[in-house]
Amino acid sequence: MTAPAKSEQDRVVIFDTTLRDGEQCPGATMTHEEKLEVAELLDQMGVDIIEAGFPIASEGDFAAVREIAKRTRNAVVCGLSRASFKDIDRCAEAIEPAEKKRIHTFISTSPVHMKYKLQKEPHEVYEMVIAQVTRARSYTNDVEWSCEDGTRTEPDFLCRCVEAAINAGATTINIPDTVGYTVPEEYFALIKMVRDRVPNSDRARFSAHCHDDLGMAVANSLAGVRAGIRQIECTINGIGERAGNASLEEVVMAMKVRNDVLPYWTNIDSTLLTRASKLVAAATSFPVQYNKAIVGRNAFAHESGIHQDGMLKHTQTYEIMTPESVGVKQSSLVMGKHSGRHAFVHKLQEMGYQLAGNQLEDAFVRFKALADRKKHVYDEDLEALVDEEIAHAQNRVKLVSLTVIAGTMGPQSATATLDIDGALPGARGDAGHRRAGRGVGAACRERPLGDRQGCRSGYARCFRQGLSRRAQ
Ligand code: KIV
Ligand code: ZN
Repeated sequence: MTAPAKSEQDRVVIFDTTLRDGEQCPGATMTHEEKLEVAELLDQMGVDIIEAGFPIASEGDFAAVREIAKRTRNAVVCGLSRASFKDIDRCAEAIEPAEKKRIHTFISTSPVHMKYKLQKEPHEVYEMVIAQVTRARSYTNDVEWSCEDGTRTEPDFLCRCVEAAINAGATTINIPDTVGYTVPEEYFALIKMVRDRVPNSDRARFSAHCHDDLGMAVANSLAGVRAGIRQIECTINGIGERAGNASLEEVVMAMKVRNDVLPYWTNIDSTLLTRASKLVAAATSFPVQYNKAIVGRNAFAHESGIHQDGMLKHTQTYEIMTPESVGVKQSSLVMGKHSGRHAFVHKLQEMGYQLAGNQLEDAFVRFKALADRKKHVYDEDLEALVDEEIAHAQNRVKLVSLTVIAGTMGPQSATATLDIDGALPGARGDAGHRRAGRGVGAACRERPLGDRQGCRSGYARCFRQGLSRRAQ
């Protein structure tokens, strides 16, 4: 059966702002070369618009945007600018070499931003919207306008500004949740209201730009899509101002994995998501949290015995997407104190070991003891454990335990428990006991003379303790 054709109407355009909103967050600065490398991968993975920087912000930002504009083959290259003509002109200069270019210009529209940040009246802001979009349109047909702090903007004023921006030539209208304040139902209602009320809303594509201050950036963006938004602004690993932006890998995989309830699609090659995550983490020196959705190192790792057993029976028991679909080679069963016998045997087989019977039982007991003491049980630990098991399997006499008490005062003593010919505690005969005692004695007699004095006095005790231990 052939897959149903994807309709253009259901396509969600991916606008990546890793190099702008992502890079501007504290500590995430990238070098010029790193920015070029990230942009190249974004272009390769199918990102539709790369927001490459904020050209007026610094010479470095300008140079990076310009170089990315020269090199990018498929994506639209976009630069950010405030409402001033100086900003817009500088932005136009930076993106000028791009085959496909966009100017993204923004201004705050919420009461708190207009009053305290801009110190302007709403009617002044309204005039600036028209002026900024008109100026940007003089450079390119592709202009995006954003109402900063859109989710805290008074609805009537928001609708008036959106209408004016579209009339002035904006082709994309972005309604940002700048402070990560909204919730999915509210964002859905806001987008629907604007699209329904603004008379020329059908002439622009609407966009979501959600921050993650309450951990809802992805959910809010997807609610926006359900309300008619067809562009999501996001970043690799969700980096961005404060708690970050909606994470690209999460929005893309949500629509892919839950296409039954989110019937939209993107152009992203999801098998490059892990590579992009690693590249951005390395370039920014921002580690990815271990349990991060999609790209965290635990996203396809299983340690609990119940989960490992389920995974070995059928991967769909505990995985909703394949690791390959996001560019991870395979799921991993992490060996730790929660692992069960099934996973232990599977892991050993993978490593080329075939243990059975008592050998397997012993190895498993020793593995559990090790895992209790050690946070990470690596393949090398298992190798050492099993090799030892195999090497000792042929020994007739095995040391079960040894206690040595030595010091400058008092008698010295040594107690050993030996397992001879598999005569383990509870299943040993007298021969085993006697031999255990003799073993201790031998060990004592082999000591240097100085020690032997102490040892001779302790010999009977050694022997007795050996016996009593064994008889327990
Ligand atoms: O969060 C925000 O509002 C922004 C704008 C510049 C779009 O980053
Ligand atoms: Zn932002």
